[in-house]
Amino acid sequence: MGYDAVVVGGGLYAGRRHKDARRFVRSHGKVLAERPLWFFSSGPLDPSASQRDIPPVPGVKRAMARLDVREHVTFGGCLREGAKGWVARMILRNGKGGDFRDFERNEAWAAKIGRELARM
Ligand SMILES: Cc1cc2nc3c(=O)[nH]c(=O)nc-3n(C[C@H](O)[C@H](O)[C@H](O)COP(=O)(O)O)c2cc1C
Repeated sequence: MGYDAVVVGGGLYAGRRHKDARRFVRSHGKVLAERPLWFFSSGPLDPSASQRDIPPVPGVKRAMARLDVREHVTFGGCLREGAKGWVARMILRNGKGGDFRDFERNEAWAAKIGRELARM
C-alpha cells in the first residue's frame, strides 16, 4: 500500500461505524497496524461533539487497541431532509435532524495530524 499514514473515518449508525469503515479496518488490519493511524467517527446530531470529547463506540475502541491507533475524535454529524431510510425519516420527523458539522474543528484536527507526521 503506497501510504505512509492512514486516517480512517466513518459515520455512526446504531452505535457502530458504517460498515464500509469496519470492513476496511478488518481487511487491512495488518497494513494499518504498521503505519501511523488515526480514527474519527461522525454522528451526533446535536452540538455535543463540538463541546466535549465523545469517546469511541465499543467496536471502534477495540480496533484502536488492536491496531495501536494514535487518537480518535468524534465529529458532529449531518442528517438532512430527504435522507433515505425509514429510521432517518423518523429522526427527521421527530425534529432531530440538522447539520452539526464543524469544519473548523475538522481542519484543526487534520492540521494537527499533519504537524505530527512532519515531526516523524
Ligand atoms: C439510521 C441512523 C442511525 C444513526 N445512529 C447514530 C448513532 O448511533 N450515533 C450517532 O452519534 N449518530 C447516529 N446517526 C447520525 C449519523 O451518524 C449522522 O447522520 C452522520 O453524519 C452520517 O454520516 P454519513 O452521512 O457520512 O454516513 C444515525 C443516523 C441514521 C440515519
